[in-house]
Amino acid sequence: MATFHERHPGITEALLSRSRNRAQDNPYEWAARRLTHVETILDVGCGSAPMAPHLANWVGLDLSEPELDLAGASGRVPLVCGHSDALPMADGSVSAVLAVMSLMVVDDPARTLLEAARVLRSDGVMVIVLPAQRPAKISDVVRFGSLLAVLGRLMLPFPHPEVAQNLRELLDGAGFELVEDVRDRFEYPISEEADADLLIDSLYLPGVSHRRMRVALALVRRWVGRSVGLPLRRVVARKVGASRVGE
Ligand SMILES: C[S@@+](CC[C@H](N)C(=O)[O-])C[C@H]1O[C@@H](n2cnc3c(N)ncnc32)[C@H](O)[C@@H]1O
Repeated sequence: MATFHERHPGITEALLSRSRNRAQDNPYEWAARRLTHVETILDVGCGSAPMAPHLANWVGLDLSEPELDLAGASGRVPLVCGHSDALPMADGSVSAVLAVMSLMVVDDPARTLLEAARVLRSDGVMVIVLPAQRPAKISDVVRFGSLLAVLGRLMLPFPHPEVAQNLRELLDGAGFELVEDVRDRFEYPISEEADADLLIDSLYLPGVSHRRMRVALALVRRWVGRSVGLPLRRVVARKVGASRVGE
């Protein structure tokens, strides 16, 4: 996965920043809605830092230098090169931790949540955005079903697909209580072939043959003029023992 981000810095932002829900928010705007009036925000796995323009008092952390270089080149600072297993922050030093499209790809999601709890203040809030399977329209199910079939996969192979199933237990184990668990569908328009190419490039597909990738690309290019839905899940949790903030 690290190599994927070295080769494709900014790819998640490129895809998601073009996707909108019914309120016309992209996923980053949707995530930022849960983080108003927060003093200090640590964005773990910030990538090219798409959250930075939406938040005050933001600090981005990632282990990928190409992602951080891209973020820095857009003036999205401050940035820290670091690993989520050992966050380089003091105990109780931040008000909110954000993990947008990153908790299912870090090496150790449980350890990442423990580290998030450690660096959070006692009234700290954790906001997580993850890929989901619903809500979806029938056309999404048909399109993604045919795409997965040509790729020879039953589902997209994130390094830690179990995070989606076990998130509540993982949060509980790290000392968080759940505040919100919602989902929304973001529509990604495929107006031209470049949009189809971006969708395929954004998929993490280790081990899929070049032949299957070519067939998949040809399939998605046939969707020009249409759109596909990207279902996402937003989870907000509070460090246990905290007062009721962030709701
Ligand atoms: C799918 S990208 C999401 C990037 C960004 N949050 C976004 O939504 O566009 C996941 C990011 O997590 C970073 N990452 C993966 N494992 C990490 C770790 N253990 N510690 C810090 N960052 C990590 C990757 O380098 C990558 O930039």
